[in-house]
Amino acid sequence: MSPTETARVTPSPDRTAAELVAELRDYLRPDPPTLSLPPQLFTSPEVYEWERTRIFHRSWILVGHADQLAAPGDYLATTIAGEPVAVTRDQDGVLHGLSPVCRHRMMPLVEPGAGNTRDLTCSYHLWRYNLDGTLLAATHMRGNADFDPAACRLPTFAVAQWHGLVFVNLDPTAPAFDDDLSVVDREMTNYRLDEMVQVSSWTEEWDCNWKIAVENGHENYHAIGFHPETVRPLMTGGIDMAVHADSALVTRLLSPTGTPFETSFLPLTEAERSVMYSFRLFPCAAVATFGESIAWISLVPVSIGRTQVRGGTLMPAAALEGADLAAVRAQIEAVTGMINAEDRRGLEAVQSAVGSRFLQRGQLSPKEPGVLAFYRNLALAMTADTPGT
Ligand code: FES
Ligand SMILES: [Fe+2]
Repeated sequence: MSPTETARVTPSPDRTAAELVAELRDYLRPDPPTLSLPPQLFTSPEVYEWERTRIFHRSWILVGHADQLAAPGDYLATTIAGEPVAVTRDQDGVLHGLSPVCRHRMMPLVEPGAGNTRDLTCSYHLWRYNLDGTLLAATHMRGNADFDPAACRLPTFAVAQWHGLVFVNLDPTAPAFDDDLSVVDREMTNYRLDEMVQVSSWTEEWDCNWKIAVENGHENYHAIGFHPETVRPLMTGGIDMAVHADSALVTRLLSPTGTPFETSFLPLTEAERSVMYSFRLFPCAAVATFGESIAWISLVPVSIGRTQVRGGTLMPAAALEGADLAAVRAQIEAVTGMINAEDRRGLEAVQSAVGSRFLQRGQLSPKEPGVLAFYRNLALAMTADTPGT
């Protein structure tokens, strides 16, 4: 065989979702292959449909922080893999997860974003819904004997709060939210999440498949390429991380810091000051500590090639007493804005290549055990039996 022939790569044949997902089973072995995902997993519309039904229609998805829903009437509106979702706080202070689409003729009741409202009024024919989803009033409907206002209400979704972080699950039969978080709960005790306030929050959309963003969030390796002047200098303990793949949902990632964090407001131990403690909650949530500052991020698909990136930064309430809040916020937003822009630019470039017919699975570095932990949980979710599929 000539050198020219050995260098020749033939295009990958198209494969079905079933074939691609079957390949994921290798990540469940005790000695998984140190390979990146099959490239067609990022481009197959059929795989994306499987992800919607097997993952996003049944998982707890981080949508925000309770500080964004502090007052009666506050709401957040977003989508989860194409499904419109709203979280409202009613006049009694109770949180509700709702499908914010009018039951008359499908008009969205709120625009994506956040706000405060007395009720959800449809702008099409002015039907009104309470913040718990029950119908408040429907105009000009008395003449329709088949219309039962008591039976007309918005579908509800499960909502859970974990130390102020707000999660939604589209599956009414989903298992309780915090079953898997006991280790994280214990290890984060000294971070006193309940006493933290959200200083800043943001939402962006990146043109990349959600898995491209999530796998990136499971390794520090890319700090040398994407973030040489922002994140890399902070990694004084190197780019390795200790990975604890605790369950099908929780992965803990501990990155050492060469220079311990200074602390004034949290009772962090020496060991805690010397690590960036973080965890990932499958499929797409991350919580990361940086000494006394905590960041959360959620990477939720909008479509196969687009991802909503939601995040926030929390700080101890005591640290903000007497502080110039606007200045603190501006400083945080400048830094997170810069780092996000670096990730976004890089990951959108990756996305631009996913359609190449000449791609093959890549070999992973020993610096990417967190990526393998994500692949394992992806394999578990995608190969699990799903009712109705
Ligand atoms: S679609 Fe909402 S009132 Fe008609
Ligand atoms: Fe990054």
